[in-house]
Amino acid sequence: MAILTRLDEVVSLCKRRGFIYQSSEIYGGLASCYDYGPLGVELKRNVRAAWWKSMVQMRDDVVGLDCSILMHPLVWKASGHADKFADLVTVCRKCNTRSRVDHLASHADEHAAHVPVETAMKDAKDLTKKVCPSCGAVGQFTEPMAFKLMFETQMGANVDDSMTLFLRPETAQGIFANFRNVMDSTRVKVPFGIAQIGKSFRNEVTTKAFIFRTREFEQAELEFFCEPGTDDKWYEYWKDYRYKWYTDLGLKKENLRLREHDKDELAHYAKGCVDVEYRFPFGQGDWQELEGIANRTDFDLRQHQRGIRTLNAWHENGRDLSKVKLADEDPEYLKGPLSFFDEEKKARYVPYVIEPSAGIDRSSLAFLVDAYDEDEINGEKRNVLRFSPALAPIKCAVLPLVKKDGMPEIATKLYDQLKRKFNCFYDEKSAIGRRYRRQDEAGTPYCFTIDGQTKEDQTVTVRERDSLKQERLHLDSVLQFMRDKLDM
Ligand code: GAP
Repeated sequence: MAILTRLDEVVSLCKRRGFIYQSSEIYGGLASCYDYGPLGVELKRNVRAAWWKSMVQMRDDVVGLDCSILMHPLVWKASGHADKFADLVTVCRKCNTRSRVDHLASHADEHAAHVPVETAMKDAKDLTKKVCPSCGAVGQFTEPMAFKLMFETQMGANVDDSMTLFLRPETAQGIFANFRNVMDSTRVKVPFGIAQIGKSFRNEVTTKAFIFRTREFEQAELEFFCEPGTDDKWYEYWKDYRYKWYTDLGLKKENLRLREHDKDELAHYAKGCVDVEYRFPFGQGDWQELEGIANRTDFDLRQHQRGIRTLNAWHENGRDLSKVKLADEDPEYLKGPLSFFDEEKKARYVPYVIEPSAGIDRSSLAFLVDAYDEDEINGEKRNVLRFSPALAPIKCAVLPLVKKDGMPEIATKLYDQLKRKFNCFYDEKSAIGRRYRRQDEAGTPYCFTIDGQTKEDQTVTVRERDSLKQERLHLDSVLQFMRDKLDM
């Protein structure tokens, strides 16, 4: 009999309770694409909201942005994605399984993988001793070949007029391209950050474990601009700040670590990079990247200054990206539009960038598997999601003990009051124990039960999901009780 892993249990619960479904399932499904169901969409909205609160709302030095997914093609020339964003792929001759060459190495790292194709070809390690992850054959691989990671699409109705665009593979470039706009339209001064949450697309060679690696996913990225020389300090600052975000939202410390990249793992532009890793329950318990925090230096802003200088050449070449070469750097790049003039120091520089880049889907998966638990109540097995109240899709449930004796009326009144402030759920069907169990599975932290005593003394029972403690609370204090728990 196959042994069910913790991930299998979570996947099954996600489908059964409406967190996550396979995309296009009625047509047999579309590989590595997923849809969020009624509970999943609330979880994901809460993850996004928690990120935004911590990274934008609570900070005086960060502003938000929401850029379009389609951008001018030169953006991707300047960023390096048009020429370099490829994975090296090989196929096992024995079982025909396609693998990323870097995934055959000991550590699968995503930042280091996207390097110039020629360099990757040169660096492709000897595959004669590598093992196929699928069938175990040794050294049976084909010559590595490049596999482009950006999805292409056409803009314009006429074939003659149409222009090839790319679905963005990261949200970061929209931020760099708007650096000047934000500087000119707000009062921000370096050091400051621009944050964005949005969809990104990568034609990944291998997808993995449910929503861990998909071809369409959501990123939450901050580009924090600082003065060169202060970058090391900010790098340390953001490492601590981001680690704390995960633990504050309930991820267990034993499942979370920071892994600093070795020098030879770094992307060519990065001065430092650390991954926030989570011990996902794949295989034996795999440490995998949840978020990358990189010191990107002044690379991106300088590249975009080169990109702008390439515009004429691009028009002259029929807007064909493959025919244009990125312009050389302007020797006077310090005076360019993507530089910053420090009024106090009377100095101009191109800011360095510290980038904490997280995945909303990937962190939702981590919050799901970390919250998943099984225990026993009175000899009966219980599945429970121990989400922190901030992330729980439903914050509380209102349950009349029975469907008579005026209980539903009191319960509905309470429910109508609470649902104006946050997501809650009303349920009067089936036995109370079953209704509690359903809420435990959905991760609802509190249930309020209206019973016979409520009519007499206006109190309700509040049941805590984790401790199973039950105590009585006056009807008038339920809203404040929830506000305290939700920190609102
Ligand atoms: N701007 C930097 C950047 O995009 P990355 O490490 O390639 O860096 C950042 O991506 C985060 O985005 C990852 O840590 C991960 O959480 C998420 N991510 C990247 N590719 C993904 C994919 N195919 N599926 C789901 N999430 C992904």
